[in-house]
Amino acid sequence: MRVYLDHNATSPLRDEVAEAMLRALRDLPGNPSSIHEEGRAARAAVDRARESVAALIGVQSQDVLFTAGATEANNTLLLGLLGARSGGVGHLVTSAVEHPSVEAPLEALERAGWRVTRLGVDSEGMLDVAQVEAAIEPETALVSILWANNETGVLQPMEQIAALARERGIPIHADATQAVGKIPVNLGEIPIDFVSLSAHKFNGPKGVGCLVARGDPAFEPILRGGPQERGRRGGTENVAAIVGLGVACELAQRKLPDRMRDRAALRDRLWEGIEAKIPGVRRNGSADRVLPNTLNVEFDGAAGELLLQALDVEGIAVSSGAACHSGSIEPSRVLIAMGRSPEAARGSLRFSLGHGNDAAQVDYALSLLPDLVERARQAVGA
Ligand SMILES: Cc1ncc(COP(=O)(O)O)c(C=O)c1O
Repeated sequence: MRVYLDHNATSPLRDEVAEAMLRALRDLPGNPSSIHEEGRAARAAVDRARESVAALIGVQSQDVLFTAGATEANNTLLLGLLGARSGGVGHLVTSAVEHPSVEAPLEALERAGWRVTRLGVDSEGMLDVAQVEAAIEPETALVSILWANNETGVLQPMEQIAALARERGIPIHADATQAVGKIPVNLGEIPIDFVSLSAHKFNGPKGVGCLVARGDPAFEPILRGGPQERGRRGGTENVAAIVGLGVACELAQRKLPDRMRDRAALRDRLWEGIEAKIPGVRRNGSADRVLPNTLNVEFDGAAGELLLQALDVEGIAVSSGAACHSGSIEPSRVLIAMGRSPEAARGSLRFSLGHGNDAAQVDYALSLLPDLVERARQAVGA
C-alpha cells in the first residue's frame, strides 16, 4: 500500500477538479482573447474561476491575477510591482523563514540596492509582532510574511501584522500558498494588500495560481506580451488549469470546516502515536498556531534522509526540510532559524496530511515507525 503524507509538497487532484479540467480541455477550444463564440466561452470559464478564487478569499474578482503558481506570483510582486511602485530602491521587512520563491527575489532586490530586514522567529517558529513594528521605517515599501510555514505549518499572527501595517500605511504581502484551502483566509476580515496562492497545494492542478493585488496597483509585468490579465501578464491563459483552480476553490469553500476537523484528528492521532511509541521525539513548532494537516517531528539522533528513504520503501511518502547541495545534506534553514542544531534539524521529518488519508493509513505508518527510527538512529551511531 502507498500512504501519501506529503500534501504540503503537492496534493492529489480531486475528481471534481479533474473532471472539470477534462471538460475544459475537450469543450473549450477557443482563445479567451478572441471575440467569437469559442473565445467568449473560454473567457467565461476563466472569469468564473476568477469569481471562485475571489469568493474563497473575500476579495473582488478584478483583484485576482492568474499566474503559473505561487513562485510566479511572488516574483511578480517583488520584482514587477515593487520596482514600478517605488521607481527606485527602498526597504522591505520580511522573515528569516520565507519560502525560496520569496527569498530569492529578495536577494535579487538586495543586489539592486534594496535593503531587506529579515526578522527571526522564536523556538516555536513565531514572529514577534513588536519586532515587526520596530523594523518598519519611513522608507519601508512592503512587509512580506509567509502566512503558514511549508515545513512546520506554523501560522504567523497575520491579523496583528496586517493591522499594524495598515495603521502605518505600509502595503503588506502574505505568501498564503500553504494557508489557502487549509484554514480560513478571508481578506474581507484581514486587511492584506497582496496574497500569493497555488492550486496544487489544495487539490488543484500544478502550474497555476494567482497573485491577489487589491486596489489596482501599478504593475511592471515580468511576462511581457499580449494584453492578457489586463496587461499585467502576457501569454494565452492556461484555461483548463485556471478552471481547475476555480473548482478547487469552490470545493475548499464548501468543505473547509470538515477538512480542518478531519485532518487535525489524523494529525493528532499520528503525533500521539509517535509520542507513545518512540522515545526521544520532539514536535517542531507551535502546537497551537499550526496548520491542521502538518506535523514536523524531530527524531533525536536519527538520520532524517535515511528514515525518509526507509519509509518510502515501505510505501510511505513524507518529506524533510533538508536540501541536498553538492552531495552534502544541508539542514532545514527554517528549523535552524528556530534555534535547532544542524543535527537536530537533519533528524526531522514533515508529515502533511490531506485528501485520501485515513486512520488506517496513519496506523500503518505508526506500526512501522518505531523500527525504522531505531535503524535510522543506529545508522548515525555506526
Ligand atoms: C509557502 C510556499 N510558497 C510558494 C511556493 C511555490 O509554489 P509553486 O509550486 O506554485 O510555484 C510553495 C511551494 O512549495 C510554498 O510552499
